[in-house]
Amino acid sequence: MIREIVQYGSKVLRRKADPVAAVDDDVRALIRDLFDSLAEADGVGLAAPQIGVSRRVIIVDITGTESSRPPIALINPVIDIGQGMATAEEGCLSIPEVYGDVARYTNITVSAIDQNGEPFKFGAEGFYARVLQHEIDHLDGKLFIDFVAPLKRQLMRGALKQIKKEGEQWDKRHMIA
Ligand code: NI
Repeated sequence: MIREIVQYGSKVLRRKADPVAAVDDDVRALIRDLFDSLAEADGVGLAAPQIGVSRRVIIVDITGTESSRPPIALINPVIDIGQGMATAEEGCLSIPEVYGDVARYTNITVSAIDQNGEPFKFGAEGFYARVLQHEIDHLDGKLFIDFVAPLKRQLMRGALKQIKKEGEQWDKRHMIA
């Protein structure tokens, strides 16, 4: 099911999401919703808090880019190792039309649980590694705008203020305090 993407300003995006204790049908339904919502929004990654669910689940689908990596769902993902740094422009479906440069590891090793409840580990590099780091940050209530240079953040202020109203409205509609 396609779900509304929660906008910047919502408290859900600033919470530390809860670990998934057991991979059950609810979690698998959540993953399907994430994929449906990501496809509709035409993005490369989505974290559960972005559809209003404060649980540690993310998906990444960069098949629309030059990558050969298949779409992936990660439950309770952790970055075990990060190496190298590179700066590149990022955006976020929860902060539409706002972009900024963020420094990230170029190479990471990630541990997670898959949809069958099996733990696994893999390596990622470049853009794939960047998207994974961005999505995992969402699970700790961190957004890419937290990492942009202060001057750039200043320039974003007007746009952020507008989006923030949307996020606050969402909280009101869903009675999130
Ligand atoms: Ni994002």
